Amino acid sequence: MILGVALTNSFGAHPAAWRLPHVNPEAYTDVDVTVEHARTAERGGLQFVFIADRLFLHGDLAESNPLFNMDPIITLSAIAQSTERIGLVGTASTSLFEPYLLARQLKTLDVISSGRVGWNAIPSFEPDAFANFGKEPPARENKYERLHEVMQVVQALWGSWGYEAGKPDQQGMYADPAHVKPVNLYGTQVGARGPLPVPPSEQGQPVIIMPASSGYGLQAAVMYANIIIAMPSSIEEGRAQRQAIRQATAQAGRNPEDIKYLAFAGFTTGDTEREALDTRLALDAHTDIRLPLARLSSYLGLHQQLTQPDKPLTAAQLAAVQAHPGDARSARTVALAHAGWSPRDILAHAIFDPSPSVVGTAEQVADHLQEWFEADAADGFMLNFDDFSTEVGNFVDDVVPVLQARGIFHNTYKGKTLRDHLGVPAQYGFDSRVAGPSV
Ligand SMILES: Cc1cc2nc3c(=O)[nH]c(=O)nc-3n(C[C@H](O)[C@H](O)[C@H](O)COP(=O)(O)O)c2cc1C
Repeated sequence: MILGVALTNSFGAHPAAWRLPHVNPEAYTDVDVTVEHARTAERGGLQFVFIADRLFLHGDLAESNPLFNMDPIITLSAIAQSTERIGLVGTASTSLFEPYLLARQLKTLDVISSGRVGWNAIPSFEPDAFANFGKEPPARENKYERLHEVMQVVQALWGSWGYEAGKPDQQGMYADPAHVKPVNLYGTQVGARGPLPVPPSEQGQPVIIMPASSGYGLQAAVMYANIIIAMPSSIEEGRAQRQAIRQATAQAGRNPEDIKYLAFAGFTTGDTEREALDTRLALDAHTDIRLPLARLSSYLGLHQQLTQPDKPLTAAQLAAVQAHPGDARSARTVALAHAGWSPRDILAHAIFDPSPSVVGTAEQVADHLQEWFEADAADGFMLNFDDFSTEVGNFVDDVVPVLQARGIFHNTYKGKTLRDHLGVPAQYGFDSRVAGPSV
């Protein structure tokens, strides 16, 4: 099972995490805080840390911290210096950056971290991001045309300093220039001459990660990615999406085993389910409950206000509740109501979080991961935590040993590079199995 941990801002996935009394409210500008979370994840043998990105100020500063790190690649560079094994996955846009700069920054990070880097290559889509580059968002077709050109030019640049150039020889050449060659790739939107002045890293070049999408996005991901990250809302959805990706990977001329499908999942753990719910309630206390209560009423199929958030539903209300057919989240909500949880506690089960979440004991968390994994709904997970300062450590200390005892998570890192941790093949330069560079 592959486990990555999302450290997408300095505090946690819950917008109120920065307000918790034990949290350093200056963590946004104190990189040591994020470095410490990464070291904790490494102690548990998690395969990588992951930093998402948006190229604009995201978040209402009156209510919360900025919802993304100041800069993912520079943050990962600090993490690289204080860790030894854990993979470092950063997000960088294929829509707004130039390939030469992308290739240089990511491969430099890969070299200085001894081959632990992954690039989450995403096509930006928000108008706010384009505005920061003085641009308008392109049509989807043009967005993906640029993505293909960027991916091919970046990979070609990565391979432009050949292994055959050798190591510095103080009696001979620093490197054999015959094996450090220009790429001369020019497309409609981007291009580069090369070569890139960065030799191979310990894993050759960074691993590529892309988000799950459909149409153009799926086509691109199966050509370039070794990890696809997704947000399925149920086991059935995860299994179907993973299967579709494996089929499309084979059609693109690659081995389906070369792509790992990871599902986002969120966790809050406690010694008891009640303790975990109370941890979540301490965060929810900072948010307005009226809107979630109204949404809950609709999810339960009730057409009335829930005026008693702290009392279990009445017998009459329970008789009227009804799950939306085919909606896993609605079915879970109804089950929680029948189990006697109050509306406030039902909400504290994180039912409206963007990805499936467990608020409970380490065993309950492990059950969720095991169920999805064994149902072929995911090869692993992107872990989301409400409050990094406590939950990364709780997961490492309490959940990881349960997964290890069940034989579904490794006991320690077997290799040194991110490719080793993921079990994905070596690649240097462009993958010749996929239809050659069209740029
Ligand atoms: C799991 C997942 C993670 C994503 N992470 C990011 C991100 O960090 N930054 C970003 O700008 N977009 C992110 N996206 C959005 C995608 O890059 C993409 O632009 C969006 O899904 C729209 O793509 P489409 O035009 O193919 O529909 C993510 C999407 C998914 C599904």
